[in-house]
Amino acid sequence: KLSKVSVEEDERNKRQAFIDTPNFFLHNHKLCNYKGFWLPENVVTNVELLRDGFTPRPTDVFIASHPKCGTTWLKGLAFAALNRTNYSPLTSTPHPLLTLNPHECVPFLEVTLQGMNLSYVESMSSPRLLSFHLPPSMLPTSINDAFSNCRIIYVCRETKDVFTSSWHFYQTLMESVGMKSPLSDDFFESFCGGRVPYGPIWEHVLEYWRESQQKPGKVLFLRYEEMIEDPRRILKMIAQFMGCEFSKEEENMGLVDKLVELCGFNRLSNIEENKNELIINENIKIKKSLYFRKGLVGDWANLLTPEMAQRLDEITREKFNGSGLNF
Ligand code: A3P
Repeated sequence: KLSKVSVEEDERNKRQAFIDTPNFFLHNHKLCNYKGFWLPENVVTNVELLRDGFTPRPTDVFIASHPKCGTTWLKGLAFAALNRTNYSPLTSTPHPLLTLNPHECVPFLEVTLQGMNLSYVESMSSPRLLSFHLPPSMLPTSINDAFSNCRIIYVCRETKDVFTSSWHFYQTLMESVGMKSPLSDDFFESFCGGRVPYGPIWEHVLEYWRESQQKPGKVLFLRYEEMIEDPRRILKMIAQFMGCEFSKEEENMGLVDKLVELCGFNRLSNIEENKNELIINENIKIKKSLYFRKGLVGDWANLLTPEMAQRLDEITREKFNGSGLNF
């Protein structure tokens, strides 16, 4: 367990434009406070490039999330559903998810671009499945445009589990590049203050929640916990939202179950390919196995002290108060 932390004032009002995160996140990228969210410095550049250079297609589907909320899994499910005609687990055609990590099948727009890869995204055939960790207020207006038909599937997760998953992720990431971890109490304070990549998580979730309430046909709002509880129901919901609903015949053939199994934690985490290095760009190399840890609800109980759990619960209650959203 982490040691008990002192409760300190929310420092958000005292934010500096940049904070130095010594060897902290993603190979020394500084975090930058951009429009109320903390983004790795290189991502800010890409957000601006996307705003001018990215043209959505009406058939585009975007997977959106705050990091560590189940992005990898959701990418797998959406990819499997959307491409089931070409790649069916009921045939002998080798499925891409057996040789590629879901992040390789569904590229991140703002992470991989580095200002030079828009041509790759443009060369993808329709319907494209793309992703981002960006909040709605940061998306190119062309995506947010009331007349654009493209759709967004967002997944969120209970905050204490997001913290726990993030803590393990960044700790392992840093150890894998030979850095001693400066996480623990510092990281807890950073997380509470929103000073983690794409934080604060509460504002991130709230922005998507409101969008999904206002535009239910455009934004599908999911929770990791409901995916764990009934992945079959969620897969069907995702397919319907993307405009490729499963037919009764497909269901009767067992296709939904097969796709759920294909994307299941045990299956994906045991694929040899998912244990190698995933190169995000020339600076960032992440072991694919890092995206699969335990895949459980409530693992926070093995890491957080009661005081930390209470603090996160209080922040969550306060932030979501009156929004109609509760955890
Ligand atoms: P834990 O660290 O709690 O195990 P992201 O994909 O947004 O980075 O989120 C990673 C979290 O999703 C990790 O949570 C990981 O184990 C979990 N995860 C990855 N694939 C999964 C799957 N197929 N089923 C359930 N959880 C999965």
